[in-house]
Parts: sequence; structure tokens; C-alpha cells
Amino acid sequence: MKITLIHGQNHKGSTYHVARMTAEKIGSNIEEFFLPRDFNEGCSGCGTCLHNGRENCPHSEKVEIIFNSMLSSDVIIIGSPTYVMEMTAHLKGFFEHIFTAWLGHRPEEVMFSKTAVVISTGAIIGMNNVTKSLARQMFYLGVPKTYRLSFGVMAASWDGVNSKVKKKIITVTDRTARKIITRKGYAAPGIKAKFMFSMLRKFHKNNDLPLFATDKKYWIDKKWLDKTNLGNIQNKHNIYLKI
Ligand SMILES: Cc1cc2nc3c(=O)[nH]c(=O)nc-3n(C[C@H](O)[C@H](O)[C@H](O)COP(=O)(O)O)c2cc1C
Repeated sequence: MKITLIHGQNHKGSTYHVARMTAEKIGSNIEEFFLPRDFNEGCSGCGTCLHNGRENCPHSEKVEIIFNSMLSSDVIIIGSPTYVMEMTAHLKGFFEHIFTAWLGHRPEEVMFSKTAVVISTGAIIGMNNVTKSLARQMFYLGVPKTYRLSFGVMAASWDGVNSKVKKKIITVTDRTARKIITRKGYAAPGIKAKFMFSMLRKFHKNNDLPLFATDKKYWIDKKWLDKTNLGNIQNKHNIYLKI
């Protein structure tokens, strides 16, 4: 199984250690990125990705290296320390650059069978908010199964985390890795994603707004609006998913 591991920070504190140990428990084929080291931009708001394609974004070169890694992986792991109750600004900046791959825009079919793990550590409060937010990003990118791991570590470094909390981290990451290995990183779209997909199909069928013209063309080219082809999406395992 290939794993893409994205750290929302450069340093190797508690969040790094939890994310890294989770990845290593799942497999050894790990492609790792650190933000801001590997990508350090916020969206410039030019709208190029929406109208002309993500490949024309002024920051596309670095974005695509990370996003292509996600596309070619079975498992995506994203870690972020809790900063003012949210994910780090660098991670948010990265997600701003790939929103055109959301379900409603131009989703990538290979995402429809992946598993994600989203992780946050915080001192006391806000970690659940971060994992909820990261899981939402995964959902809209089409990832059907996301495990949310959040830990209140009451510390500003990994060395400062007490043994009881570390024991809990080991138990939870062991359990999560076991589940993912058993399913070989594979997951199938749930009812929420299917419902969302059928709503979006209706939306694109019935709308000709210039704002969504590029998206609509994508849906037409994929034959997702074609009545004879309703509900068939082929994922990377060559399985036709009924959506
Ligand atoms: C800028 C900043 C904002 C923070 N905001 C929060 C917060 O909202 N809630 C919280 O519990 N801890 C907060 N913390 C503490 C860190 O989330 C906590 O120490 C975390 O475990 C650090 O992870 P790391 O060791 O991977 O850096 C903040 C720390 C920093 C530097």
C-alpha cells in the first residue's frame, strides 16, 4: 500500500510523531511532505483553476507534486497541530489550491476508493474541530472513509507528553492501522457521498452558469450526465461504483 503523509507543519513535535507512527504501522511505502517546506502559498484568488484548470494556477508546480502523490496512494494521512482551534494556515493554503477537485467541481475517480487518516494534537481544546475540518476536506475530495484521531497532549513538544497519553496514542494508532491493513486501504462510497453525487448530477444537468462551465464540461466528458451511463463510475480497482 502506498501512503501519502502530509504534515501541516515543518517541525517534528507531537503531531509529527503521531502521524509518522500511524503511517509506519500501515506500511513502508511512505511519501512525506511538510508544509510550508514543500508548499507555502495561500490562494491568490485569480480563479484560474476554476475556469482554466488547476494546471494553470500560478502555484501549480508544487501543488501538483503533492496532489499527484495523493492520487496515486491508497492511504492519505494528514496531520496538523491545533492552532487557534483550526488546522495550520499552511495546510489550509494547500486545500485552497485543490478545491476544484471537490465532488461538485471536477472530482478524481481514483479518490472514490481511498482511506484517509486525519490527525491533530492540541494542548487542551480544538483538536476535534481540526480533525472534523480535515475530514470534511477528504469527503469533498471524494475519499469515502476517513479516520479522525485527535489527542489532547497538554504539551508543547513530544518529549513533554506524559506516558499515559503516549500509551493511548499507541493503542489508537495500532487499532486504526489494523483496520486499514485488513481492508488493504480500500473503502467504498457511503450513502452520503452517493446522495451528494446524484444531487450534483441534477445541478450540472439543469444549470448553464458561466461560473460552472468548466465543471459541467468535465461532467459531460466523463459521461456522468449521460442517461445511458447513469451511476457508473470506475475507480482505480476497476470496480464500477454505483453512484
Ligand atoms: C499558534 C499556536 C496556537 C495554538 N492554539 C491552540 C488551541 O487553540 N488549542 C489548544 O489546545 N492548543 C493550542 N496550541 C498548542 C498546540 O496545539 C499543542 O501544543 C500541540 O500539541 C502542538 O503540536 P506539535 O508538538 O506537533 O507542535 C497552540 C499552539 C500554537 C503555537
